[in-house]
Amino acid sequence: MPPVPLPPLLPARPGEAQHQRAARSLREAAQTGLLVSGSRLSTRKLADHWNLARSTVQDAVEQLQAEGYVEVRARSGSYVADYSVPGRPPALTPPSVPLSDWATRALSNERPGDPDGYGAAARFEIDLRLGQSPGLFPSELWAQALARRAGDHPALLSVGELGPAETRRAIADWLTGERGAAVTPDMVMLTGGTQSALDLLSRTYLEPGRVAVIEDPGYPGARRAFGAVGATLHPVPVDAGGLDPAGLPDRATLAYVTPGCQFPTTATLAAARRQALLGWAQSRQSFIVEDDYAADFHHAARPPTPLQGLAPESVILLGTFSQSLAPALRSGYLVAPPSVLDILARTRPLTDRHPPTLDALALAEFLASGGYMRHLRRARAQVAHRHQVLLEALHTVLPGFRPRPAHSGLHLYLPLPGGLSEPQLIAHAASQGLGLSGVASFSRQAQPPALLLAFAHLGPETLREGARRLAEVLKTLEVKAG
Ligand SMILES: Cc1ncc(COP(=O)(O)O)c(C=O)c1O
Repeated sequence: MPPVPLPPLLPARPGEAQHQRAARSLREAAQTGLLVSGSRLSTRKLADHWNLARSTVQDAVEQLQAEGYVEVRARSGSYVADYSVPGRPPALTPPSVPLSDWATRALSNERPGDPDGYGAAARFEIDLRLGQSPGLFPSELWAQALARRAGDHPALLSVGELGPAETRRAIADWLTGERGAAVTPDMVMLTGGTQSALDLLSRTYLEPGRVAVIEDPGYPGARRAFGAVGATLHPVPVDAGGLDPAGLPDRATLAYVTPGCQFPTTATLAAARRQALLGWAQSRQSFIVEDDYAADFHHAARPPTPLQGLAPESVILLGTFSQSLAPALRSGYLVAPPSVLDILARTRPLTDRHPPTLDALALAEFLASGGYMRHLRRARAQVAHRHQVLLEALHTVLPGFRPRPAHSGLHLYLPLPGGLSEPQLIAHAASQGLGLSGVASFSRQAQPPALLLAFAHLGPETLREGARRLAEVLKTLEVKAG
């Protein structure tokens, strides 16, 4: 195999560590075809070429290995993996139209670990990475609801930007009864999932010069949507009590928060902080965008009432059916004061006119008939059991480590001893067939190392085996509980 042409080192981005910069350069070279599969990657040559330490390049190569771009052959070295997509269409050369500012910003904000990111391409024997669907979709019940409503011509033909009235009513009833939110049907808009709501809010309320608060570490989907419209991002640190209001800026257009189950640390926002955050928003005329993504899966006590229930005038509540039903549905909701919805009803049609009516009618029927509640009870029991299995397995094989029990959601947060290299751990685990997510890929500022272990999509035996392999990997790397 011919030697690999050495790819260029891309310009550094603010706050980016050198190994991340090197990994990004390699990734881009792989994606643009500069790195040919099967050819050897010499970390020494790359380090010389880029004028970086060899250990930095080694970290980058390990990261690419975890993402599936590089494979390590025993006693032979690192090689560019065959990650090509079968059946890829022939290369076509489109006109060279420059990207818009929005697209340029959207692409420059892309990082591994992002939802639908390229990291998802890697395959593992045991995959504990975030972003896996728990596979709980009640196909038959959904198919029955769809079939029943498919013949409902009057309802199918009357479309509205916010969604059918009966679905908005069913969601308002559900949120009031189940979550203690303060919702009437005229405050509900159906969305194509949380991401579409974040995009619509970004385009309606943000622009260059406006400030959006995000949590750090936090959800890449929010960071990317706000960054793409040119807003200034203001990251606020998170600890075991959730977002720390001391880090809030003097002024901001909105603050995106996950108070019920901080993403990705799973912390619940402490009571005093909830009040401080609401006080901050009210005194600054800012929106709070509350992402309630994990509320349907609480494992023990009910999750706290959403902030929206305390301050419906300031809070825009976002919910999704991606976890409780399936991400493929692209179905969620946004709750906001009616005057805000009046605006969104006029900006939304530019993207997708209105939500898919048939799906919305099926959802209304599913919610109002009690079918959703019955489905959720079964699904919750299964997810809570898997959570318990992984927690116990970790306590058994990693005594001294302190996994944080998740009050809700589909993953566990496992703090690791300081000084450990997350990319090295993740790469080594990958070589043992174990897929892991680390907190660093969701963070702007350096964080104490931690793993985010998704559990809801795997059976008890696989979870126990995953915990066992993780313990072996940590042992091999001589990592001891801190
Ligand atoms: C924090 C957070 N919000 C929202 C979602 C769901 O997004 P969507 O409704 O766009 O699928 C996820 C997905 O896992 C998430 O982690």
